[in-house]
Amino acid sequence: MAMELFKNTKILVCVGSGGVGKTTMAAALAVIEAKAGKRVLVLTIDPAKRLAQTLGIEGTHDVTKVPGQNFKGTLYASVIDHKRTFDDFVLRASQHSEAVQKIFNNSLYQQLSTNLSGSQEFTSLEKLYSCYDSGDYDLIILDTPPTKHAIDFLNAPQKLSFLFSEGVAKWFRDPEGKKLGLISHLIQSGTKQVLKVLETLTGSQFIRELGDFFINIEKWQEKLLQRTVDVQRMLIAPTTKFVLVTSFDQAKLKEAEYFIREISKGGYHLDTVILNRIFPSWLDQGSEQNKNKSSDNMDLNNFYSKMKAYYSQRDVYYRQFQAKIEKEARVLRIPDLVNDISDLSGLEELSLLIEERQSKT
Ligand SMILES: Nc1ncnc2c1ncn2[C@@H]1O[C@H](COP(=O)(O)OP(=O)(O)OP(=O)(O)O)[C@@H](O)[C@H]1O
Ligand SMILES: [Mg+2]
Repeated sequence: MAMELFKNTKILVCVGSGGVGKTTMAAALAVIEAKAGKRVLVLTIDPAKRLAQTLGIEGTHDVTKVPGQNFKGTLYASVIDHKRTFDDFVLRASQHSEAVQKIFNNSLYQQLSTNLSGSQEFTSLEKLYSCYDSGDYDLIILDTPPTKHAIDFLNAPQKLSFLFSEGVAKWFRDPEGKKLGLISHLIQSGTKQVLKVLETLTGSQFIRELGDFFINIEKWQEKLLQRTVDVQRMLIAPTTKFVLVTSFDQAKLKEAEYFIREISKGGYHLDTVILNRIFPSWLDQGSEQNKNKSSDNMDLNNFYSKMKAYYSQRDVYYRQFQAKIEKEARVLRIPDLVNDISDLSGLEELSLLIEERQSKT
């Protein structure tokens, strides 16, 4: 069954706030298209251990073929290793020059490349871009890192590239006067870890490392800027579609509403909103089976009716949310399943549900 979502789609970006099911949905959507005959790559971020084992990508950064008997096409998967991706980018940008080892050993680089706020978002998009550019896949599905506010994902690379380019320019224009300005910029854009490193360096070592760092990154800052432009172009292309995943709590739904507006303001293409973990079918089945049993089962009956009330209450909020966003995107309602989705059969079960639900909309 061809899903509308995949028509003329080369890239799917799964976004949403923390813990809503982005990684799971990214994998299930990839299974659908691999079954349909495409060469699909799913780029995941910190998948749960069992899911990583299932996909065969535990402990490796390399793109790996996922064994699956039902695939007419091929499913590939990879976990994004942020440090490796940043290093690969620097290696390419500096055209594998010898000086590159020096920068890899620089403690400031080590901290900035992985801990600066926005660097995970940058590396996710960098990895996406290089896989897209390779032309090896019909479809790439990108899972995104858990951000406090989902919108940070879209703004982060620009922030990072601005830090590297503007920061360096200012530093070199007026080393004396701008020293403090640059450091406060680093502090604003960085994290506690970056500060900790700055603290552990002695004054002279600090100046030396900082000097080395900027001399080296000057060589690839233009490439970084260029890459940010290329990535942005890729993200707003009509063949790149966004899937927003949300689950219940009211704060998450509010966040999702805000994000939907930001996606369209930014010129990106939001295709589908997945309302995850709605009313579970096991509740209906369970209470039905238990209906005519003896009074010993009163407790169980009680449990079922309480759970039903709980999920129905949640559904009121889901439906209000759905009514508000229906004009912006297709809505898929996916129930809470009995088990966590951590193996291939779980993914297949979920992918069948997605296909079935989308055909109803
Ligand atoms: N519809 C569902 N039914 C049952 N379990 C689900 C469902 N969707 C997701 N889960 C489970 O919820 C947990 C969180 O899902 P997942 O890891 O995909 O979320 P995430 O958005 O990627 O989280 P993070 O923001 O931390 O990366 C997982 O254990 C997953 O198996
Ligand atoms: Mg995840």
